[in-house]
Amino acid sequence: MELNRRTVIAGAAAAGLAATTLGTGSAQAAASGRKPVREPFGTLTDGTKVHRWSLENGGTRLKVLSYGGIVQSLQTPDRHGRHADIVAGFDDIADYEAKSPYFGALIGRYGNRIGKGRFTLDGTSHQLSVNDGVNHLHGGAKGFDKHVWDVEPFTEGSDVGLHLHYTSVDGEMGYPGTLRTKVTYTLTRHGDWRITYEATTDRATIVNLTSHVYWNLAGEGSGTIEDHELTIAASRYTPTDSGLIPTGELAGVAGTPFDFRRGKPIGRDLRAGHEQQVQAKGYDHNWVLDKGITARPEHIATLRDPRSGRTLRIATDQPGLQFYSGNFLDGTLTGTGGRTYRQGDALCLETQHFPDSPNHPHFPSTVLRPGQPYRTTTIHTFGA
Ligand code: GLA
Repeated sequence: MELNRRTVIAGAAAAGLAATTLGTGSAQAAASGRKPVREPFGTLTDGTKVHRWSLENGGTRLKVLSYGGIVQSLQTPDRHGRHADIVAGFDDIADYEAKSPYFGALIGRYGNRIGKGRFTLDGTSHQLSVNDGVNHLHGGAKGFDKHVWDVEPFTEGSDVGLHLHYTSVDGEMGYPGTLRTKVTYTLTRHGDWRITYEATTDRATIVNLTSHVYWNLAGEGSGTIEDHELTIAASRYTPTDSGLIPTGELAGVAGTPFDFRRGKPIGRDLRAGHEQQVQAKGYDHNWVLDKGITARPEHIATLRDPRSGRTLRIATDQPGLQFYSGNFLDGTLTGTGGRTYRQGDALCLETQHFPDSPNHPHFPSTVLRPGQPYRTTTIHTFGA
């Protein structure tokens, strides 16, 4: 109790409130959230100003940029109540603009890859922007991660959050239809971070929105995630070709390094030499969630760091999860805390539809038509 109260007061003090004014009552008020605060973060090369929003609720502290809806910092307490930033990021807008591998960003219109950037919809073929060898990755050369979003703060009951809006015009990056997108980040009074993605289109199109947060539950820049234990409720995954495009097969995980059903340290089978791992330089695959598409978010994955005791539980209504073990981090990027990120220093768990779905009719459909609302939710629950 005493420890909790101290944590809350320290949090409120860091947020600019005078600790001396806090009795137990106001400490509780701080814990149930307060209006998000905005500050300047920097200027893009084209002169556009970028802002950073700070919000806090139930022990979780979140900092979000108007550029790309980027989660620049996310702090949660460890088992001793000590906060740390558990997401990879930069403290400089120039780094985000020039060299970010999608750190913390919103991804659209299509998360992950589309083979050769081509697909056919209602008999018309479309050519998308190609930005990953011959393929389309994360929405193309200028995806949703590289646009400034309109941000609107809210408090609703005990929740605090941000509504982020971006309209992608017909033809942008080769996609048909004007897509009006609204993403809501909510921090609940329990400190959960909920993302709701909504979109509408005026022409048939494809859509697959996700979030590209890189996690390290021991704290960003603290070293490898290989000792994190991961559980994924999936009996199958989608193997890929050398360009990381799904072959179309739904392969069983049983007896392979891809079996995370019972939970295991990520490093345990990371060097098993399975041809799919060799090709991807580690894990960079879509797991086919056993629950399939669901009306409501269901728990599908748990990440646990034995050192700090921090846990992250993910629930989603989506059918897939891309687990990427930070294979392309190569020690050339310096993060928020001033330390470089090396291979496997952070990992991504992207809830999504399967990569390249428009070219695999047996994968769940990613087609969105006028009058049909797109709405999906992913919930991150933190513990220690
Ligand atoms: C995704 C992809 C990876 C890689 C990263 C960004 O998770 O699956 O192959 O492109 O994004 O570096």
